Amino acid sequence: MQTTACIIAPAMERLRIGLLGSGRGSNAAAILRAARDGTLPVEPVLVLSDNPDAGILDLARAEGVEHGVIREHRFRTRLSEEVEKDVASRLLSAGCELVVLAGYMRLLKAPLLSAFPQRIINIHPSLLPKFPGLEAWRQALDAGEAETGCTVHYVDGGMDTGTVIRQSRVPVLPGDTAATLHARIQAAEHQLYPAVLRDFAEGRLP
Ligand code: GRF
Repeated sequence: MQTTACIIAPAMERLRIGLLGSGRGSNAAAILRAARDGTLPVEPVLVLSDNPDAGILDLARAEGVEHGVIREHRFRTRLSEEVEKDVASRLLSAGCELVVLAGYMRLLKAPLLSAFPQRIINIHPSLLPKFPGLEAWRQALDAGEAETGCTVHYVDGGMDTGTVIRQSRVPVLPGDTAATLHARIQAAEHQLYPAVLRDFAEGRLP
């Protein structure tokens, strides 16, 4: 009788991610949903927000993902050193391998950048290096661009200045308002961010 060796493939390791956000959390929602469905090989281990009322915290609660509030009372555009050190240690203790910024509205400093070198990514609603900063969709509209989009990039200490990983383009259509253009860009973001995370998880990005 012939016997067949049965080789059981090891379950693929899922990339452990931490998410930081300050707002609505529609990008986080796309990522958490895909992780839960098993269509994206990532495991969200911690969600943190500097805004106690942020939608991203409600999402984490609904998905059963560990979450918490970052309490910063001294600065608006960054965290004080001790608070950022605490954020880094919470992420490291959770076993986070990649930090995913999803609408996080503060600049990062040394405590986080050195704890996760080349392991923090962000999504921005323009084709960087064009239109860094706030309301990038409105900047594109005001500049009369025929095309804009979104960018996933590594995070450094600047505002939207890190190395670009990947971009997705969207047209600016006649009659667009800031709201319609923003909605079109966000729809592209919800495709692009999970796609880049898949590349990280499957080892196609450094
Ligand atoms: C996104 O448009 C992203 O590009 C920018 O902040 C926004 C966050 O939106 N960095 P949401 O909270 O994911 O809905």
